[in-house]
Amino acid sequence: MKFAAAFALLGALASYAAPAKRAVTDTDILQYALTLEHLENAFYHQYLGQFDQAAFKKAGYPDWVRNRIENIAEHEAQHVALLSGALGSAATQPCTYSFGVTDPASFVATATLIENVGVSAYLGAASSIVEKAYVTVAGSILTTEARHQAWLYSSVDKGPAWSGPEDTPLDFDEVYSIASAFITACPSSNPTLPVKAFPALAIAQDGTITTSASTDGAFVQVIAGLTTNTFPVVNGKVQGLPTPQGISYAVLTSQGNTTLVGDDNILAGPMIFNYPFNSKQSNPAPAF
Ligand SMILES: *[C@@H]1O[C@H](CO)[C@@H](O)[C@H](O)[C@H]1NC(C)=O
Repeated sequence: MKFAAAFALLGALASYAAPAKRAVTDTDILQYALTLEHLENAFYHQYLGQFDQAAFKKAGYPDWVRNRIENIAEHEAQHVALLSGALGSAATQPCTYSFGVTDPASFVATATLIENVGVSAYLGAASSIVEKAYVTVAGSILTTEARHQAWLYSSVDKGPAWSGPEDTPLDFDEVYSIASAFITACPSSNPTLPVKAFPALAIAQDGTITTSASTDGAFVQVIAGLTTNTFPVVNGKVQGLPTPQGISYAVLTSQGNTTLVGDDNILAGPMIFNYPFNSKQSNPAPAF
């Protein structure tokens, strides 16, 4: 489900229940959230273990950077404990992962993107949560993930602490697609979530698309804050692709009408765009 504008929300929600997929329950949502938290927890645990303070220093980071990443790692471990406690015996167990991180700088860069996806995941799931108390729990995690992302993006990388006036919601399948690119194997005893992963999507700066999905007659939908729009793909190249400020997302879809783009017509993606912007630039809601 995408949001062409805030006003499209109700219409989009009404159409969201239509596909044959089984309805998403609160247990599914908690398991989905725990799947992401396990990923984040494993990510920080692995690379803090791999890169000590000396490695960070050698990469040019002051001591407080790694120290505060330790804080973040503690938070992710607490999120795992919180959701595992709520799920009890239905708790999802951690998978094994491959993140492609090679040094402290790529650790920080990947952390920034993973935290941003975390924000988009909780934001996108919020409207599907039935039990009010879970909304507060999910919200408290969401805002904390946003603080992590903002700190990494601004204090550490000297960029903006935000992407624009609104953050970007992503739906279950979109988030799961990004997460599953990092997952190598999961315990077979894990619950089967009502989500699927789309094939990977890469778009070069000149618009050339690389994906296993067919691009014939396809469109690229760009998702930036609450703004979405579609751009036609001609001969494997997307036409007129915008460069929204900060971090945004794109999917390949067979649907040209952006308000109708959803899991049933997404062909590949999301791809993550990252365009940090200068402090002298204004930062309105994206318009494209
Ligand atoms: C896109 O789909 C929406 C929802 O069905 C519809 O209201 C709108 O008219 C469509 N836009 C175009 C340009 O066809």
